[in-house]
Amino acid sequence: MKARALIKDGVATLKASEAIDHWQKDREKIEAEDLLAFVMGEDPDPDDAIPDKRKREFLQLIDRRATGEPIPYIKGFTEFRGMELISEPGVFVPRDSSDFLAEQAIRRLRKRRAPVHVDLATGAGTIALAVANEVPKASVFGTDLSEEAIGLARRNARALGLKVRFATGDVFGGLPKRIRGTVDVITVHPPYVAKHEVDDLPDEIKDWEPVHTLTDRSKDGLGFVRQTVAEGPAWLDRKGWLLMETDPDRARDVRRVMEDGGFREVRSTKGGDLKITRVIVGRRPA
Ligand SMILES: C[S@@+](CC[C@H](N)C(=O)[O-])C[C@H]1O[C@@H](n2cnc3c(N)ncnc32)[C@H](O)[C@@H]1O
Repeated sequence: MKARALIKDGVATLKASEAIDHWQKDREKIEAEDLLAFVMGEDPDPDDAIPDKRKREFLQLIDRRATGEPIPYIKGFTEFRGMELISEPGVFVPRDSSDFLAEQAIRRLRKRRAPVHVDLATGAGTIALAVANEVPKASVFGTDLSEEAIGLARRNARALGLKVRFATGDVFGGLPKRIRGTVDVITVHPPYVAKHEVDDLPDEIKDWEPVHTLTDRSKDGLGFVRQTVAEGPAWLDRKGWLLMETDPDRARDVRRVMEDGGFREVRSTKGGDLKITRVIVGRRPA
């Protein structure tokens, strides 16, 4: 069977899946091509004949994907800013949308002489590792409540040969006291879905990613944001920045929480592939 026909079959199965969110044009085609390339070890040409064994493997992976299983869990890795990150069930899947958060942190940190960066709720180490990779002079710290996440973040750092001090802890809990008042940039992609909204998420998210990675169980999804705004100033340098990733529906509320917390130069910035990710930025209160 030729690759073209096999991909067509894969696309049909994915399109029929109710577990997948069909929000992006050609998403199913992109995913089917990705899985076939994974099975083959390279991108096949559309006219290439696919051996039966590979065809069976591909169709099995398509069936797994059709149940909602995220592609990074199926493949065991994902790409983020040119890095290959190990991805496993139990830990949040790094999203392309966070590229914009990383980019804003990197831009600010490059301007400092001896930059200090903290990535809260680091998950697989996503933003912290991107900073360590692209701003080698930075001292980078990443924390997460989940031991599983920190274990995976450490494995990712080792595999990439990057130095990040990862620690478990509740919000700022895992950070060494000696960096209080010295942090140039805090990044956070928090669990921001309101408790009652979790059931409305697509199956591919709510059935596969742990609930603590999605929601802080607050009524409005702003519990983690409020705690970061309250405790963040004590960790930030005088000119330090807090950068928070959120979704368009919550951007205004996050902004208000930061302004009410005394942060200066608060702005909602829009970016990423689809220009829908919001990163709310603000400088430490005076
Ligand atoms: C949306 S995920 C983001 C992960 C990572 N920053 C990324 O973008 O790939 C949110 C993360 O917050 C962590 N988390 C949830 N509650 C926490 C808490 N109270 N303190 C620290 N981390 C927490 C979860 O374990 C999860 O890894």
